[in-house]
Amino acid sequence: MHAFSRASDSSVVWITGAGGLLGHQMIVQAPVPASGLSTRGILRSEVDLRDSKAVRTLFTRERPAIIVHCAALSKNPACTADPILAHEVNVETPRFLSELIVGGKFVFISTDLVFDGAVGNYHEESDVNPLSVYAETKVHAETIAREHPDHLIVRLSLNAGVSPTKDRGFNEEMRLAWQQGRGLDLFVDEYRNPMPVKQTARALWQLIEKGASGTFHLAGSERLSRYEIGQLVAGRYSHLSPRINPTSLKDYHGAPRSPDTSLDCTKVQKQLSFPLPKFSEWVTSCSDEEI
Ligand SMILES: NC(=O)c1ccc[n+]([C@@H]2O[C@H](COP(=O)([O-])OP(=O)(O)OC[C@H]3O[C@@H](n4cnc5c(N)ncnc54)[C@H](OP(=O)(O)O)[C@@H]3O)[C@@H](O)[C@H]2O)c1
Repeated sequence: MHAFSRASDSSVVWITGAGGLLGHQMIVQAPVPASGLSTRGILRSEVDLRDSKAVRTLFTRERPAIIVHCAALSKNPACTADPILAHEVNVETPRFLSELIVGGKFVFISTDLVFDGAVGNYHEESDVNPLSVYAETKVHAETIAREHPDHLIVRLSLNAGVSPTKDRGFNEEMRLAWQQGRGLDLFVDEYRNPMPVKQTARALWQLIEKGASGTFHLAGSERLSRYEIGQLVAGRYSHLSPRINPTSLKDYHGAPRSPDTSLDCTKVQKQLSFPLPKFSEWVTSCSDEEI
């Protein structure tokens, strides 16, 4: 039996961004109907979430009890290229959704990039210091989400898996580059905790079913450099003759980057029925359908 608190008789869970990497996986991993929850994926083709009138109409009709907000302008370069759009999608949309669901639960998906990466191994109370437009919008939206009486904010690291459009997971981006004959420059001294999106979705559902609230870090249990991650992924696409050039932040002169945004996930681990995976184990053992 699930533990989420209901403001109404509704058992509907909206998953926004259902056409994206995580939103799609949330639909795939949705609990069976016996859990009492019924999952409803919201696709951009049905409603642009910036259209507040259309969203309100849909909300009034369906009265979800929970919104799991996975939709976002999720790529750093896209946010840098269009900060106004990034603000609309990543700040104003969650603001509006959290106001609509005020009697229910608002689940907001955030990022490890809220941290500047100067020290690494961040826990939930560590000070944020965003270095990019994308990260700034996430910090701003977290502040809004935290005002919701029943909020759950989950910060993720890099997620791998198969997206409906085949280009959203970092593994898919790497594969596309290698398919096009491009080599990748990957930092040997920039660290993340990569995670299979399948396990991210499974963990999110467990948090939701337990009625968890507050802020959680949710990521893989292995801290790996971008270069190490690339080498592991390359092992699955060896038929593409993948090329990776090791590079260092010491030789990098572009926009600011966060060198080590590894996350301390002790808090979320206590809530889960399974151990957070090691990326190196997953990537070598998962099926071809998962990567
Ligand atoms: N994937 C990661 O490694 C990672 C890491 C840390 C945090 N996160 C966060 O996790 C969440 C899910 O990420 P993801 O990887 O699933 O991203 P994604 O694959 O890019 O999916 C985002 C989805 O949001 C939709 N969307 C964007 N703007 C919209 C709008 N105005 N109206 C309706 N839908 C809209 C997109 O639609 P289109 O398909 O039409 O563009 C897409 O389906 C995001 O908040 C992201 O910032 C992801």
